[in-house]
Amino acid sequence: MSSTSTTLTRDASGEQAPRLWSSRFAFVLAATGSAVGLGNIWKFPYITGENGGGAFVLVYLLCIALIGLPIMMAEVMIGRRGGHNPITTMKNLAAKAGISARWQGLGWLGVVGSFIILSFYSVIGGWAVSYVGTSATGTFAGADADAVGALFGNLLGSPSTLLLWHTLFMALVMVVVARGVRAGLEKATTWLMPALFVLLLMLVGYAFTTDSFGQGVSFLFSPDFSKLSTEGVLTAMGHAFFTLSLGMGVMMVYGAYLPKQVSIAKVSIAVSLMDTLVALLAGLAIFPIVFANGLEPGAGPGLIFQTLPLAFGQMPGGTLFGTLFFVLLVFAAWTSAISLLEPVVSWVEENKGISRVTSTLVAGAAIWTMGLLTILSLNEWSGFHPLGMFATFEGKTIFDLLDYLTANIMLPLGGLLVALFAGWALRRDSVQDELGMGDSAMFRIWYGLLRYVTPIGVLVVFVYNLI
Ligand code: TRP
Repeated sequence: MSSTSTTLTRDASGEQAPRLWSSRFAFVLAATGSAVGLGNIWKFPYITGENGGGAFVLVYLLCIALIGLPIMMAEVMIGRRGGHNPITTMKNLAAKAGISARWQGLGWLGVVGSFIILSFYSVIGGWAVSYVGTSATGTFAGADADAVGALFGNLLGSPSTLLLWHTLFMALVMVVVARGVRAGLEKATTWLMPALFVLLLMLVGYAFTTDSFGQGVSFLFSPDFSKLSTEGVLTAMGHAFFTLSLGMGVMMVYGAYLPKQVSIAKVSIAVSLMDTLVALLAGLAIFPIVFANGLEPGAGPGLIFQTLPLAFGQMPGGTLFGTLFFVLLVFAAWTSAISLLEPVVSWVEENKGISRVTSTLVAGAAIWTMGLLTILSLNEWSGFHPLGMFATFEGKTIFDLLDYLTANIMLPLGGLLVALFAGWALRRDSVQDELGMGDSAMFRIWYGLLRYVTPIGVLVVFVYNLI
């Protein structure tokens, strides 16, 4: 059975069915929408702040180029060759290559991992939705640190409020996914991504008018290696996976909808560049504001939710800029969450023989329910530490454990398996055929990175995180 003859995405005449992206541009937008999310705007600034700035950013950029980009190309390539949801894709490709059917475990890892990530991602996306309203009603105006801290504390402390926003966020995601590839995913990202860029540029423009713009720029771009720990290097590498949406079958399933003639190398480079650009723009928008207001760059995960409202509350036009900022965060989280739902829905749809709408409802409801664990971890169950008897998991709530399981175990494992599958298990000629780069120097550099540099790099992160 050849993977192309069984693919659902083409009809008998070889015409592209509507299940494929309509153009290269549409894929780039959708994949960028997946990559750009809370990871870029919320996580990148706070881990950069915690790890001392410039040197961390430099290592992160190297990880994107040497590990992230090669794995993205491999994952998209696997997806397009397989043409289905991650599980079916892996099963078919392994059968075709005459290797162990156990490789479909990589597909399972992706479907299960996306499911878990989305369950808590949606709750955090809900925070962002709630902050749009909080900002728009002028709540930040003149608020001091205590008041802003109390706002955030009240939100996390109220299960019913969290539930409301989690439900709303999940509904937004499901509406898009239920509509399918062209009408749903593609249309949404075609509007959301450009809007996001415009909003971000406006915020950078605002940051430029503060007298701390230079300080923000030098914090981000002048490396001081004395501030970078070994752990910082590993954090940078792990974040490269998260921010590029790798290892969870997301790029695989988006790759399955990519028309054959499109160059995988070109689109992967474009997506990686845009993702990096957004992270750096977010840094350029946030750090000048942090410095101008005498805030602490290493404040941690609360950085944007607890300190930026303080800044917005003090700056002229802060209600407007604050609202725009959180709208932007919702857009970014939304397009990422859509991509996290897609592997799950495509699997239910293809394997259970039910319609896309029903699949979305079933998968979405299950993920929504699992999100309750995260909501309760933030308040009622905040003292419940199920694995507290192990030193590594001491003090970790269920939410912390889900985050740990996905970010520290499933993502590196998924990335490693993608690299091993594409680099070692698939035949070189079929890989070459799918990439369409011939045996060019570019191909050989990529292949070398994928077979050696990437697995070794990932193993270092993986092992480090386990011990
Ligand atoms: N990359 C997204 C972000 O930065 C999150 C995300 C979407 C993701 N899909 C993913 C992370 C798949 C890991 C795997 O917020």
